[in-house]
Amino acid sequence: MKKNNVFDCTIIELDRHHSDRKGNLSVVENGATLPFDVKRVYYLYDIPGGEGRGAHAHKELEQLIVAASGSFTVTLDDGFSKRSFFLNRPYQGLYVKPGMWRNLEDFSSGAVCMVLASDIYKPEDYIRNYNDFQEFRHSL
Ligand code: TYD
Repeated sequence: MKKNNVFDCTIIELDRHHSDRKGNLSVVENGATLPFDVKRVYYLYDIPGGEGRGAHAHKELEQLIVAASGSFTVTLDDGFSKRSFFLNRPYQGLYVKPGMWRNLEDFSSGAVCMVLASDIYKPEDYIRNYNDFQEFRHSL
């Protein structure tokens, strides 16, 4: 894995189709929207007030994190620098490169966090201990 840093992780604007009468529609299409092809979609919802999610890193996985509804804050940490993103628009996604520790917090009531991922679920791709993460980053 290349030594990515938090400044390589950016907000991607999604296509947005607006109709005055019928509302909005946004699109993510393989080969067009993201730097990776989507193999899996999952979403977090019914998150109790004050709860946080995440608290892990991935060795290889790339993701796009979207506030499909409501809002929350994502803090990325590359082992050297941290960067926080407030997500509250369904037509924007945070592109997360591999090797980023992430914390998701401050979920609004009814928030839905949709994650588009570059691979199927692989428990071996997770780093769930922060000290292991620091060692991993400093060994790259
Ligand atoms: P977890 O990664 O702990 O959630 P978060 O980091 O957002 O707090 O996942 C919660 C549970 O869901 C855990 O038992 C693993 C399972 N899970 C899957 O089975 N497939 C998946 O694609 C994901 C993301 C999680």
